[in-house]
Amino acid sequence: MRIMHVDASAKRERSNSRALSRYFLERLREERVEFEVDYLDVTVDTPPHVTEAFAIATYTAANERTAAMKATLAASDALCARLLAADALVFAMPMYNWSMPSAFKAFIDSVTRTGLTYTFADDGSTVGQLGRQKVLFITSRGADLRAGSPYESMDALTPALKAAFGFLGVSAPGFVDAQPLQFANPEARAEALERARGELDAVATQWAKAVSAAHGDAQQLQQACVE
Ligand SMILES: Cc1cc2nc3c(=O)[nH]c(=O)nc-3n(C[C@H](O)[C@H](O)[C@H](O)COP(=O)(O)O)c2cc1C
Repeated sequence: MRIMHVDASAKRERSNSRALSRYFLERLREERVEFEVDYLDVTVDTPPHVTEAFAIATYTAANERTAAMKATLAASDALCARLLAADALVFAMPMYNWSMPSAFKAFIDSVTRTGLTYTFADDGSTVGQLGRQKVLFITSRGADLRAGSPYESMDALTPALKAAFGFLGVSAPGFVDAQPLQFANPEARAEALERARGELDAVATQWAKAVSAAHGDAQQLQQACVE
């Protein structure tokens, strides 16, 4: 299995979302899931912001693109190829001003590509191409935005991620949201991290079962072909 692992926190060693995404991959290993990682830190290799040249090139039919347009799209093409080659996607990020870090938004702008990560059906509807990938979002939040909290309605991060990746074919992404962290007392913070780790344990077990079931199916199919 190939996992694309993307971190998006401006913080490094002090980052909770980075620590939680590392924890999740360790848990998967403990569950004996065999995988390789394609790692991207979008705060280091930040995809370029949308430019006028990109906006024109991306909506020009592939067979009509000039050499300059192809060059403009090259980095985005490469990123889409990485995403499509992955079997699973693990995205970790903090909430910044109620939504996602701008570096992760640049990533979304770079990988939402007509003809690559979404195509069109005969009736003109769009068909997202990431339907096969397992997807997990790990987010960290300073405040508590869970149901019933006064900040609940401020969560512009979860809906934005669901919409952007739903369009690309991701129908049932997992979410593990660590909250409240920075703006809570030490006990509540520790509890939030413990809760998040518990949820990550459950997702790791679930992924391990799904991978093992898929492996079993593949072996049965192979056996049936031999017989
Ligand atoms: C620039 C900035 C903006 C933030 N905005 C919010 C916010 O709108 N809501 C919130 O709950 N926390 C907010 N926080 C707090 C972070 O989401 C929180 O500290 C989180 O744990 C950071 O994740 P990290 O440790 O992976 O960097 C903000 C933090 C920073 C640095």
